[in-house]
Amino acid sequence: MIKFQNLTKIYNTQAGKIVALSNVNLEIGKGELVSVVGKSGAGKSTLVKIFTREEKPSKGGIFFNDINICELKGKKLQEMRRKIGVVHQDYKLLCDKNVEENLCYIMQVVGVGDKAIAKDVKKVLEIVGIENRVCHFPHELSGGEKQRLAIARALIHRPEIIIADEPTGNLDVYNSYEVISLFKKINEMGTTILLLTHDKEAVDYLQKRVITLDQGKIIGDDKKGRFIL
Ligand SMILES: Nc1ncnc2c1ncn2[C@@H]1O[C@H](COP(=O)(O)OP(=O)(O)OP(=O)(O)O)[C@@H](O)[C@H]1O
Ligand SMILES: [Mg+2]
Repeated sequence: MIKFQNLTKIYNTQAGKIVALSNVNLEIGKGELVSVVGKSGAGKSTLVKIFTREEKPSKGGIFFNDINICELKGKKLQEMRRKIGVVHQDYKLLCDKNVEENLCYIMQVVGVGDKAIAKDVKKVLEIVGIENRVCHFPHELSGGEKQRLAIARALIHRPEIIIADEPTGNLDVYNSYEVISLFKKINEMGTTILLLTHDKEAVDYLQKRVITLDQGKIIGDDKKGRFIL
């Protein structure tokens, strides 16, 4: 389903070139839950940014069902974006909109009707377990609730894959467990998940495939991995 092919990213800075990713080759099958672990600076967020098109690779590409997402433009790029849900460490919620509006907004942008939106909002809020917080604003939510809202937002357009960059980075142990359990549940419902994380406990709890990145290179790929750095 997803294929990273010779993916290389070199940042040109005033201090010189920084190789963030170096010839990364990786395949992720439909329905997998894969964790990518690595020390700070290993290249995890760079991988996410290329996926979300915030950055272009210096070489290679990311193929989604054989289409190189790094080369898409216009309508085709918009269509691809709907297949990918993204969750960030710092939630990136709209602070002047309440829970419901944070979710409706995404659907309205792509032209979904009001009735269908109301149904889907209810459904995703039930999945993430914050259906009793519909009218709350982000500043009225706990960290765990904010992240669950961000996950609901990633889910609402029924993506084929969810990519989460340090989704438990701002959460305490209890909320991290809740969020990771939620990803597990969403994966069991059929969505492919790519989790980039520092969170050893989360990775060990999942007992799923673990890719280890070090200085932009893959140095490990274990089917039922534990977090070893
Ligand atoms: N915009 C940029 N310009 C120049 N160098 C960058 C840029 N973004 C990241 N880097 C460098 O690329 C390397 C990989 O960074 P990246 O953010 O992908 O790491 P990471 O694995 O996500 O780290 P962390 O766990 O701290 O979030 C680092 O050496 C970083 O300093
Ligand atoms: Mg990062």
